[in-house]
This record gives sequence, C-alpha cells and structure tokens, in this order.
Amino acid sequence: MCGIVGYVGSQSALDVVMAGLKRLEYRGYDSAGVAVLADGGLAPAKRAGKLVNLEKELSERPLPTGTTGIGHTRWATHGGPTDANAHPHLDNAGRVAVVHNGIIENFAALRAELTGRGHGLASETDTEVVAHLLAEEFSSCADLAEAMRLVCRRLEGAFTLVAVHADEPDVVVGARRNSPLVVGIGEGEAFLASDVAAFIAHTREAVELGQDQVVELRRDGVTVTGFDGRPADVRAYHVDWDASAAQKDGYASFMLKEIAEQPKAVADTLLGRIDEAGSLTLDEVRIPAAELREIDKVVIVACGTAFHAGLIAKYAIEHWTRIPCEVELASEFRYRDPILDPRSLVIAISQSGETMDTLMALRHAREQGSRVLAICNTNGSTIPRESDAVLYTHAGPEVAVASTKAFLTQLVACYLVALYLGQVRGTKWGDEIRAVVRDLARISGAVDQVLGTMEPVRELARSLAGKDTVLFLGRHVGYPVALEGALKLKELAYMHAEGFAAGELKHGPIALIEQDVPVVVVVPSPRGRSLLHDKIVSNIQEIRARGARTIVIAEEGDATVEPYADHLIRIPATPTLLQPLVATVPLQVFACELATARGNEVDQPRNLAKSVTVE
Ligand code: F6R
Repeated sequence: MCGIVGYVGSQSALDVVMAGLKRLEYRGYDSAGVAVLADGGLAPAKRAGKLVNLEKELSERPLPTGTTGIGHTRWATHGGPTDANAHPHLDNAGRVAVVHNGIIENFAALRAELTGRGHGLASETDTEVVAHLLAEEFSSCADLAEAMRLVCRRLEGAFTLVAVHADEPDVVVGARRNSPLVVGIGEGEAFLASDVAAFIAHTREAVELGQDQVVELRRDGVTVTGFDGRPADVRAYHVDWDASAAQKDGYASFMLKEIAEQPKAVADTLLGRIDEAGSLTLDEVRIPAAELREIDKVVIVACGTAFHAGLIAKYAIEHWTRIPCEVELASEFRYRDPILDPRSLVIAISQSGETMDTLMALRHAREQGSRVLAICNTNGSTIPRESDAVLYTHAGPEVAVASTKAFLTQLVACYLVALYLGQVRGTKWGDEIRAVVRDLARISGAVDQVLGTMEPVRELARSLAGKDTVLFLGRHVGYPVALEGALKLKELAYMHAEGFAAGELKHGPIALIEQDVPVVVVVPSPRGRSLLHDKIVSNIQEIRARGARTIVIAEEGDATVEPYADHLIRIPATPTLLQPLVATVPLQVFACELATARGNEVDQPRNLAKSVTVE
C-alpha cells in the first residue's frame, strides 16, 4: 500500500520518479506527489486522485529541473484523499520533504509535542510529523541520515520513509520498518522504491533492506546502517525479469495479460522441482526431513485470494499426508491465541510477501516455536525473509490489483508442498506421487485450452452487466473456487457476489434465489467422487426450480448437467483435487469482462491497493 520512489543521479529526477510512480500506481491511487531538489531549494507538487491529475498539474505548472527527487502514490489511511493530505509532506521552512508508507501509531502524541513547540501542521496525516521531526534533528546534526535514525527511534508502528533535504542536495535517505523498500544500484545513480518495478527500466541490480535499517543514497553508492547507526549487512541480488514483464504488451489491461500468462506461470512454478525419476526435489524447503516427519499439524495463514488457495490446499494436504490442516485468515490468527508448538508447520501464502496481516501471523507462529514455510511470488520480500524456508511461485510480476496468475501458481506450490510432505513422511508411494506430478505437468496445457474457449464466457459476462447479484456455488475444492469467483466479481465489478458451499444453500442462502438471478456452479469431475457430483447436480436442480439462471462449469463429456444448465462452460477433465487450476480461469475472465462492461478500470479497482502493508 502506497508506492514510494526516490532517485539521485544525473537524469531528470522528475522524469525518473514519475515513470516509477506509474509502475507503482497499483499500490494506491488516492493521490500522488513529488518533490525535486533544485536551485538550492525544494520544489514539491501534489494532487488528490490518480497520477494523471498530478501529470496535469505538472504540465500546467512545471517544476524546475533537478537530479534528486522523491515521489509517492497514496492509499489513504490517516486523513481523506485530499491535496493537503497527499505526500510529500514538508516542514514549516519547506526545506525537508518526506513520503511514507505505513502507519505511525504514536503520531498523535508527536503531533501534540510539535504543536507545543510552535510547529504548524497542515494535514491530517500521521506522516507530516516526520517532516517536522526531521527538520528539528537536521538543524542540530546537519546530516539527513543521522536525523532519520534519530527520528525513527521515536516512531512506533510500521513505516517506510523516504526523505530529501534542500541543504543536502545530492542525498536521498530511506528508512524501513516492516513496510517494503528496495534499493536499485545504477551507474552513477541510485534508486529507492517500494517495488523493483519502479526502477527496473534503469537497473536490475537491487539491494534488499532489512528491518530497522536506514539507507543513504548518493550517486556514487549507498550506505546502510541500523537505526542505531551501526553498519548493516545487506543482501544484493539480480532481478531476474526485465522491464517488458511489467508492461501491458498490447493487452487492454494488466489483468488480461496476467490471465493469459497463466499457462507459463504454472509451468514455470513446476520447473526444476521434479527430478528425472519424477520425485520432488524441493531443495528450497530447508526444514530437515526429520522435522517434517514430526509435524502433527499444518496451519495455513493467508488473506483474500491467497486464503482461497490455502482452503484448496487443505484438501490436498489432508488427503495426501493425513496430517490435520487448518486454514485461517491471517488477520484473525494471532488474536484468537491459536494452539501452536514446534510440531506445527505454518504455511504463509502471499503473492507480495508484504501483507502485514500475514506477516504478523507468521511472527506469532515463530514466537510459539513453530516452523514457517512461505509460499511467495516476490523475491526478497519480508515474509520469505522472516520464514524458515520459502517456495517461490514463478508467476513473474503481478501488477493488476486483482490476483490471477499468482493464485494459480500458489495452488501449484501448495500441491508441491503437500506431495513433498507425503514423500518425506511416506504417506504416498513414489508411483502415486509421479502420477500426480504427471497430472500437474499437463495443467499448463489445460489452462491454455480453457483460455482458447473464453469468447462465450465474455459474451455472457457482457449480457449480465446490468445485474445486481451473482451467486457462486461449489462443493469440496469447488467451494473455495466459488469463493474466489465471488471475490473477483466483487472487487472488480462492484456487484453483490457471494460464494457458498452448495450443500449450505438450503440452510439459508437459498432464500436469495429469485427469478433470473445468475448462479455460477462449479461441478466436480463425474469420474472422481461420483457422490459429490450427484449431490451438486441435485443442488443445481433445486436452484433452477426456484428461477435461478444457471451457469454451469463442468468437465468435458459430463452430460448429466446439460439439461440443467442455462449456460454451460466446459473445462478439460482433471483429477478432482487439481480441478481448481482450470475451473478458476473462466471465473477470472468472467469478472474481468463484466467489470469492463460496467465501465470499471480492472487494473485499479476502487478503494483497493495491491500489497496491503497495514493491518
Ligand atoms: C484479490 C487479491 C487480494 C490478495 C490479498 C493477499 O484479488 O489480490 O485478496 O490476494 O490481499 O495478498 P498477498 O497474496 O500479496 O498476501
């Protein structure tokens, strides 16, 4: 949440920062702002609303040219999305500018202290206090990095801060506690950003900052210390994707592009994890096999779409390993005092690796002595850094706020972990594992096949653009798929959409069915657990009898459903447990198209931001 960029070098800082903000706009779009050091002073500009508003402002009132600057795109927490609350925030003399991602929990006390000393604060934000505190500290030490360290020691909460001072014109200083911040190292230039996407067009050499660290950027290098001033160890890494991966490539939206990338993302996530004999080689799971054999409980923590991946993983983990598995919303986890011990394996699933709720859940688990395995898409992010081991999904950068390819790859990673546990603990025979691995290897092609048959789904979605409600039903692994279908539609089309376990319908939700309400039903394979299939066919008949318009997602060759489907969406046959990998795809396309038909911007749905770095 909130995107931050900082730059020092020889290019126009404004151009670099604005281009970076464009790449980070998915992190928040309530306001945007920049500040450039030029002509011995500080030149700021900021506007409420999307980045285009700031672009317009800058075209009407251009800033002087400078080679050091910072920028911010906001997801509002303290204070509404107004010009005054937009970042950067300045001190009273207009010499220091600061941008911030996170929440400063003790800001009210600091604000009272500052006003008591005669400072005038112009916004309702928690951030502004930092600009004033930095100005005070700088006036005595004349060193922005030192001033930042002193200020950070007084702050409580989660924060990433980036600041510049007019009296240190070739310096940008950043600080990190919990919220993400990455350094980019170029030739004679350096970058700071919430995400490498902001500077990938300039350099692929990055440095990951740790907790409670302050970084000072100059053209000729960077210096990293702890908040206590001691030099810090940092990890440098090479970003293994380039600028083209973060562009739309001719697609109308990132979401469409990312949906289309799913066959590759699924295949890439399997790559290198299966040896020639068909056994799993998950070297990244550095938890010793002896410990994995002692595990007596798996607990999955995640949020939103990643939580739905966890719900599906439970079926596979329990079926293949016979270890009890709980799945919990990360935001609820630590508050209910969960029962954990060193024999619990906690799996934290997160695309961004920065979701604060998930991070707090994993920290809680580690405090109880549990082992934590992260499933994550973002190299060097906080969740993998703080876990005992990480299995990276290789989806590539996901820019659209609504998660698509990350979800499918999270599922693949979960299946791999489940099989690996079965392999290590001997609950699955080698030939059984090889059979599932072969099925998984076929999924990429099956997803591709689904993508090739989506035109009728798009047409159907457009025809439903005027509806108020769409319901989703599923059983077994189809239930979390229904939840995911409903979440996608809610967040993109702003419609009432709900997912239900089909068997629960008659315990209440069936009252929602009235004439012509669209109900999407995910039907399990008839070849798998036929009882499951029979039951859902009965459920379809129950809702149809009450007037529902049934949209049935069923396997090719499943003729039983035909008489009860007003619209039939075919998916390739897959084993029951793997069906979510193909059944989710039409629901993503459906939500994307329906939202577009309603005139919504699918990459940046209202009120949302990718990477939710506040609790
Ligand atoms: C929905 C969506 C969110 C995220 C959730 C967790 O389309 O994208 O529900 O899945 O915010 O994010 P990560 O996976 O980054 O922890």
